[in-house]
Amino acid sequence: MDKLIITGGARLDGEIRISGAKNSALPILAATLLCNGPVTVANLPHLHDITTMIELFGRMGIEPVIDEKLSVEINPNTIKTLVAPYELVKTMRASILVLGPMVARFGYAEVALPGGCAIGSRPVDLHIRGLEAMGAVIDVEGGYIKAKAPEGGLNGANFFFDTVSVTGTENIMMAAALANGRSVLQNSAREPEVVDLANFLNAMGAKVSGAGTDTIIIDGVKELHPATYRVMPDRIETGTYLVAAAVTGGRVKVKDTDPTILEAVLEKLKEAGAEVTTGEDWIELNMHGKRPKAVNVRTAPYPAFPTDMQAQFISLNAIAEGTGAVIETIFENRFMHVYELHRMGAKIQVEGNTAIVTGTETLKGAPVMATDLRASASLVISALVAEGDTLIDRIYHIDRGYECIEEKLQMLGAKIRRVPG
Ligand code: EPU
Repeated sequence: MDKLIITGGARLDGEIRISGAKNSALPILAATLLCNGPVTVANLPHLHDITTMIELFGRMGIEPVIDEKLSVEINPNTIKTLVAPYELVKTMRASILVLGPMVARFGYAEVALPGGCAIGSRPVDLHIRGLEAMGAVIDVEGGYIKAKAPEGGLNGANFFFDTVSVTGTENIMMAAALANGRSVLQNSAREPEVVDLANFLNAMGAKVSGAGTDTIIIDGVKELHPATYRVMPDRIETGTYLVAAAVTGGRVKVKDTDPTILEAVLEKLKEAGAEVTTGEDWIELNMHGKRPKAVNVRTAPYPAFPTDMQAQFISLNAIAEGTGAVIETIFENRFMHVYELHRMGAKIQVEGNTAIVTGTETLKGAPVMATDLRASASLVISALVAEGDTLIDRIYHIDRGYECIEEKLQMLGAKIRRVPG
């Protein structure tokens, strides 16, 4: 298992390019299943989760064609089996995103039920109930969700999400694109990735409106046609590099990104004392050598502060001036990084869903273990300011969501290297 060794103390300074968004690329790849013909998806990030999705397509008999820039062409008409097997789903929960498109397009799907997860229980009841509302008959048997569309296909439905769910909204929106008649999805997730998926569906001829608000209206069409689409930039990767620069007192310009999709994060960085300037597709953060000030953060669905940036802000608060409270409202067990950060000398107290972080002037390098994707980002960030070396184990979590993290950090002047293990 590869490990990362980071020698802290270098002040980050430089420019990097942001990759395509993982959490947009995954539903968009799943949505290609809805198309009657080949679809090309560009700006895919080079990540393990994307490879897993492509492998899943391979298992179903579809052979995606990938070019050297990681554009992928998928022709779902070659599908042979309608099964997403457990051994792939257990490595990536987002595999559940093929459920809606498969039932809508092919009338049947068998998708392994994702089990528990390092950050919470993460049920998929809303995905199932949404499809049932459209007339699908669903049995959960032998650890698999077996879903069958009624004769004549899924029917449009009014569905209310009693919890805001990103992939839940995406799954039902994709299914509704090919259903008979109109669907109205209320209390939908408003995340930019949902909007990106809606834009992709519309590029293939779907009739989706209201994405980005809590009510999405979909008028089903008979079929979707081939299209070429470019995945939006990754707002969480963007935010992670901005925090990395901030904790080191440094400066970073992130390019090929979109400042309008991470306003809550930029506000918190300004509150922490960063100078933030933006252009159409770039953001520059400059701390001018200062130590950040601690900030209070409460995660909630978009446009509020994202849970996927919570761990990184705990790292920021850990070396900041003052004390900050970080409240996690989305997932019930998303503080695993705290216990690793304790090993580096961080002063963090967890009470229920709140972490009280008292900033300390120095952290100390230590061997630590990544437990999930964003938790690992917070370990990397803390290691960048810690005295001495930090050895981060289980970095396959990082490779799921951060493209070329060591190369990008090296370009900013960090002392980081990967050691094969
Ligand atoms: N929930 C239910 N029932 C459901 C679905 C969700 O109760 O059927 C609950 C969850 O347990 C959770 C809340 O609803 O408490 C929100 O979960 P959501 O469904 O929105 O999460 P997700 O769609 O599984 C996506 C991202 C996550 C991100 C969350 C929240 C993808 C592929 N994943 O997950 O990304 O944290 O939304 O914004 O889009 C990551 O990239 O590191 C990551 C975990």
